[in-house]
Amino acid sequence: MNRTIIAGIGKYVPEKIVTNEDLAQLMDTSDQWIQERTGIKERRYAKRFEETTATMGAEAAKQAIERAGITPQEVDFVIFATLSPDYFFPGCGVLVQRILGLREIGALDIRNQCSGFIYGISIADQFIKTGMYQNILLIGAETHSYALDFSTRGRNVSVIFGDGAAAVVLQPTQQDNRGILSTHLYSDGNDAEILAMPNPGFHAGLHKKEWKPSVPENPYSSLFVNQELLDKQDFYPYMDGQAVFKKAVIKMPEAIMQALHSNNLQPSDLTMLVPHQANLRIIQFIQQKLALNDEQVFYNIQKYGNTTAASVPLALCEAWEAGKINDSNLVCLAAFGSGFTWGSALMRW
Ligand code: ACO
Repeated sequence: MNRTIIAGIGKYVPEKIVTNEDLAQLMDTSDQWIQERTGIKERRYAKRFEETTATMGAEAAKQAIERAGITPQEVDFVIFATLSPDYFFPGCGVLVQRILGLREIGALDIRNQCSGFIYGISIADQFIKTGMYQNILLIGAETHSYALDFSTRGRNVSVIFGDGAAAVVLQPTQQDNRGILSTHLYSDGNDAEILAMPNPGFHAGLHKKEWKPSVPENPYSSLFVNQELLDKQDFYPYMDGQAVFKKAVIKMPEAIMQALHSNNLQPSDLTMLVPHQANLRIIQFIQQKLALNDEQVFYNIQKYGNTTAASVPLALCEAWEAGKINDSNLVCLAAFGSGFTWGSALMRW
């Protein structure tokens, strides 16, 4: 059976840099608080009315396609991971297909938040191993800045997230010493609302009583967006940060160890761990737990914040560009996020 390699990788981040001091002008926060709790110094925000999740994803894709040494016409499947799509429907996959002028190939959108890229890698790996596709374009992109609460009420969420995109082209290889060794995917929906953006949505308050809209006089009025929701400004992401933190520091190391054990490998064998860039303290906790040295862990959260589905590929791209990842090196990707969903992907580059 074929093995799957990342044949090309690319990234796109918006030009606009927003520092912690910039945010402190908008809400009650400080550079010191943000850096101490998260490690973030600045993040990028998309240029309004010019950049979207799809356009940034397309830019990253162009670079990945070029670096893979193929033409856009050779892409035979697209997977797009995001939690901030341009439209509720259709997904960003078809928008990228249109922007890049791809053939009438399949385009799949996935909604797995911070672990979207790991899920995407796993899906692509299955299609490539079976010989179904030869050049899969996998994109992770986010435009958080269009939907954050920049008042003090939303500070625990808004200081963390940033915009950006990254993409890879996955291809089959016959080489023994390269390719994806395994992927492990997990989820636990019991805490689905701990990190969520429920509104606007089709839930009609079914899963949580406190989210039930008051009964409208008109039986056919919209439950998706209503005046009550607008009056309360109840359409921003919600996060219980401590609960997410506690679970992330257990589940990410578990997923990494599962990847290593399944392949009879140890943490010391890793060339590079590229974890989801959610919080520097989470990354440091994982590093300590697995007894990895500084050279074995890559992070760029200080520059971009948490870019969710773009976070792992953006870090992977920068690690590769910096020459820290070379052919046949053992690389582990891992992520944890809303859902909860989490997972790992282990590969020889
Ligand atoms: N600036 C200043 N003070 C703040 C800010 C802010 N931006 N945000 C919260 N605070 C305050 C709180 O109001 C609270 O004040 P109080 O003690 O007077 O009530 C205090 O700081 C402590 O708040 P906590 O939420 O307990 O702070 P914590 O140390 O947990 O840090 C953080 C918060 C950074 C969000 C952390 O919990 C975290 O990183 N959690 C994980 C986030 C994550 O991994 N998300 C993952 C995936 S994202 C995805 O899937 C979409």
